[in-house]
Amino acid sequence: MGALATLSLLLALRAAGVAGALLSPDFLFLDGELLPDGFSYGCGTSAYQIEGAWNEDGKVESVWDHFAHDKGKGHIAGDQTGDLAMDFRHTYKKDLPLFRRALGINLYDFTIAWTRVQTADGKPNQRGIEFYRDMMKTAAEHGMQTSCTLYHWDLPQRLQDKYHRWISKGNITRDFRDYAELAYNALGDLCDTWVTMNEPHSFCSEGYGPDTESAPGYAGPIDLTYQCMHNALLAHSAAVQLFREKKAQGKVRGKIGIKLDGSPGVPLNSSSQADIEAVTKNNDFGIGWVAGPITSGDYPPVMRTAMGDTLPKFTEQEKALLKGSYDFIGFDAYTSQWVTPTKGKCVSDSDAWPSCIDSFDARPRSNQLIGRPTGSSWNFQQDTTVYDGLKYLHERWGAKELIVGENGMAGLNETQLPINQFVRDADRIEWYRSTLLNVKRALHDGIPLTGFVPWSCISNLEWSSGYYNDFGLIRAKPGRNQTRTPKQSAAYLKGVLTRGNSIEPYNFVHQEL
Ligand code: FCB
Repeated sequence: MGALATLSLLLALRAAGVAGALLSPDFLFLDGELLPDGFSYGCGTSAYQIEGAWNEDGKVESVWDHFAHDKGKGHIAGDQTGDLAMDFRHTYKKDLPLFRRALGINLYDFTIAWTRVQTADGKPNQRGIEFYRDMMKTAAEHGMQTSCTLYHWDLPQRLQDKYHRWISKGNITRDFRDYAELAYNALGDLCDTWVTMNEPHSFCSEGYGPDTESAPGYAGPIDLTYQCMHNALLAHSAAVQLFREKKAQGKVRGKIGIKLDGSPGVPLNSSSQADIEAVTKNNDFGIGWVAGPITSGDYPPVMRTAMGDTLPKFTEQEKALLKGSYDFIGFDAYTSQWVTPTKGKCVSDSDAWPSCIDSFDARPRSNQLIGRPTGSSWNFQQDTTVYDGLKYLHERWGAKELIVGENGMAGLNETQLPINQFVRDADRIEWYRSTLLNVKRALHDGIPLTGFVPWSCISNLEWSSGYYNDFGLIRAKPGRNQTRTPKQSAAYLKGVLTRGNSIEPYNFVHQEL
């Protein structure tokens, strides 16, 4: 049954007076599945992508401010910037209740801008801290818990200028730990859950090395990418260790984890043993690069074999600190990729992924793309992506608790289209229906999945794609005083994941700001 047909059926059942039973509080109405106790359902955003107010509150420059202001270089499509973004810094008091009302979420998953809470000389910036405190109090007043991510790619520019931070050995761990300490002290009484960092795979492979398209755009050999990841993992483990000390002292509460991305492999030829084996290699290189160290204390053995000394080494002490440095892992899922053993050599300076496999997403298998294309060149609806990633993390690394940390579908230019062209986003409903079937399957198989965070609560700056790619469940144009309009996909998720009284798929909330 298609998603809209499901909605119609539910509306009919509701009208007939039976939906109350079907849609009782603890049921996913996607086939009446019971969600585990305490399952979190949130929506995600990140600081640079929505806050705007880039130089207010005493905020200092981040690498993304710097990158976006370096115009004429093609860094961001249309030379757009996050200077105003969705103006969330000024609109949060209206936006948060709308997120809750439109989506029915019980969690707001956001990121703290390092540059808004710490001054240029490393001191707490009270005005920036006050914003986050008031924002979290607003979320709580409207029935939402908060998940606070320390780092979503917006490194202070001063650290990049001084030491090329993520690739400079040693000091970044200290700086990140100091920043984490500042955040724990300032916000620890309000944050319900913590995430150390979002997708180091993305910020290291896009920010440093041969394929740079993100800030700081530090081009060089592949070693830079691996050095960045090495330092990010050490910084992560230091922040987790500190969190555990603070928790023992009663200064912070809740759990701490990390969000990681990667595209699960699908064998190019499903009857080829070599292709099936290449899937594990693909997943170890893409997802195990982070999952291996934080669960087992070291990189997956296949990476060491393929890369030798290009892959940095952890000391025994570092391994001990890394091992088990998470309470949960968030898997950020946007696509899968076909894989097959490479026909060429495994390691070269120019290969971003010297993993002895070839991988394809947009390229065909028997003329097929890996999944249904979306408005973004790397985002495909492949109906097992979420399940495959969760299963890999659970089976290969014994991940004890997992969430779907991000998941969403890009629309093309939705921030500019008239309402009748963006609001009926049946393709996004189909995307989320597929995701929720993956969630259901994972729960059935005993995968310890405890949360689902679709991306994103609201339209936002999609990094180097600017505002042209829109993942938002609520649509807004960038800038000040822009109307917010939930799309049908927001109503779909609310209907599936919350109580029956929220089934209002065509009741759009236009919120004028
Ligand atoms: C993820 C990023 C997030 C957003 C989505 C579409 O990789 O973490 O900020 O850009 O992709």
